[in-house]
Amino acid sequence: MIIAVDGYSSCGKSTLAKDLAQALDFTYIDSGAMYRAVTLYGLRNGVTVGKEEDIIPLLDNIKITFDKDAEGKQIILLNGEDVSKEIRGMEVSRSVSYYAKIKEVRCFLVAQQRNYAKNGSIVMDGRDIGTVVFPDAELKIFLTANQSIRAQRRYDEMRAKGKDVSMEEILENLRERDYIDENRKESPLRKASDAVVLDNSQLNRQEQLDVVLQKVHEIRNTTNL
Ligand code: CDP
Ligand code: CDP
Repeated sequence: MIIAVDGYSSCGKSTLAKDLAQALDFTYIDSGAMYRAVTLYGLRNGVTVGKEEDIIPLLDNIKITFDKDAEGKQIILLNGEDVSKEIRGMEVSRSVSYYAKIKEVRCFLVAQQRNYAKNGSIVMDGRDIGTVVFPDAELKIFLTANQSIRAQRRYDEMRAKGKDVSMEEILENLRERDYIDENRKESPLRKASDAVVLDNSQLNRQEQLDVVLQKVHEIRNTTNL
């Protein structure tokens, strides 16, 4: 079974996807982390802001893998280095949507994302999972939440990790990425026509998980998945 979770920035996609993977014993893939890792590589290797297409000839040098740390938490490796923390910083957040507009970057990552589904059931979160990466996914969730609630959640999360960011900075980044992601030419953020919309503005982590697990049970009752 493939579960696709798409939606706007900071609405809880990866939290939901991770919880689903744990509850169902599926593999979890954070496609946004892959775009962030490509961005980090560009920032570290001389790709200047505004000339993001200079990443194209460098793509062959990038190897992205997922692994688990000593506590069993998923980590992402960029050419063997654990960059899980660094990709969440504001520098990457400010640039990532510009890299994600580039067709060659998307082709490079989508091919790898599709490969993960060859080894069993997966849940993947991102922007184009239900529309482009897995248009035949058995369950597609389009997650959404009020923008100020999303900004507050991201702010609380970054503050709790000791990051010195302001609410204005977070809100501006959210607005800019949502705009670019929805309006780009290649695989824009869209709700798939057969996706279930879930507004989690008033739902906590457990409540959103319960809603989606119920959908999974309904699918399992009518198929042999
Ligand atoms: O966690 P957050 O929602 O802030 O972002 P993310 O899922 O880590 O994704 C970072 C950025 O990567 C997004 O703003 C998109 O520009 C891009 N992305 C994409 O274009 N397609 C995906 N499937 C996943 C992410
Ligand atoms: O992956 P995405 O950027 O969509 O969001 P996330 O990283 O899963 O969630 C952003 C923050 O919102 C995290 O700190 C979650 O714990 C929190 N969250 C929440 O407070 N209530 C929810 N229903 C879902 C997520």
